Amino acid sequence: MTAFPLQVCGAFARHAADYEGQAGLQRGIAWRLARLCHTLPAPPPTAPRADLGAGSGLLSRALLHHCPHLAGHPLLQLDLCPELLARNPLANHHTAPLVWDLNGGLPAALQPAGLLVSSFALQWLEAPARELECWGRALAPGGWLAVAVPVRGSFPQWRQAAAAAGVPCTALELPDADELSHALSSAGLHTALQQRLRFSRPALSGLTTLRRLRDLGAGSSRVAPLNPSQLRRLLHHWPPGAPLSWDVLLLVGRRIV
Ligand SMILES: C[S@@+](CC[C@H](N)C(=O)[O-])C[C@H]1O[C@@H](n2cnc3c(N)ncnc32)[C@H](O)[C@@H]1O
Repeated sequence: MTAFPLQVCGAFARHAADYEGQAGLQRGIAWRLARLCHTLPAPPPTAPRADLGAGSGLLSRALLHHCPHLAGHPLLQLDLCPELLARNPLANHHTAPLVWDLNGGLPAALQPAGLLVSSFALQWLEAPARELECWGRALAPGGWLAVAVPVRGSFPQWRQAAAAAGVPCTALELPDADELSHALSSAGLHTALQQRLRFSRPALSGLTTLRRLRDLGAGSSRVAPLNPSQLRRLLHHWPPGAPLSWDVLLLVGRRIV
């Protein structure tokens, strides 16, 4: 495994106990995606189902609430971070969870799949569009894929503060929304739903914003951390009273044949 997935997994592991307390946005998105799935036809009954990057199971639990027709067939809870899976009430419920690095594609046992869902995990992978296309290709006829992922265009306040301060922006580089939608069609899926939404978190100081991300376990970056003097400059230029905004893409695709 390369260094970045290890860094990501280590950060989520260290903060696993705090994840659900800090994950208000993730919980809201999981709830919204699950509600949107409620009218979708049932996936093929015998094909496997999985929540990819399931973590503590927020999306799978929201699906069980909004889509009772899915309840008879449990979703495999797959994640790279055993510490988050250990806090997932659906892991071990019907089937053992799977510790798996999604940078290496899907496990053979999931192919062809009836239902693949994922929320706020794809952006951590080395090549999100390529992996999304592989997920789409892995679907059985009649199977579907539902994904929520933050995309490029998020955190404009952070980028502007970094540019004004003359320091690198250490926010995670997020995938491009158009490339992700294209990946779905390249996989031969019919796009049943596509929404790009902007969510603003309450205005906090720059330091509190960065600490909140860290406490969620989501502070990993491919850019080296700022030194103390760079951090002071960044915080000095952080726009006071500006909420941090996230652009989130919701995609639902279905394999017709
Ligand atoms: C922000 S959490 C989202 C968890 C859950 N889906 C939710 O909505 O609350 C991101 C999840 O992606 C997982 N993840 C990150 N990189 C991964 C990888 N390479 N393979 C599998 N899971 C990964 C993390 O361990 C973490 O559980």
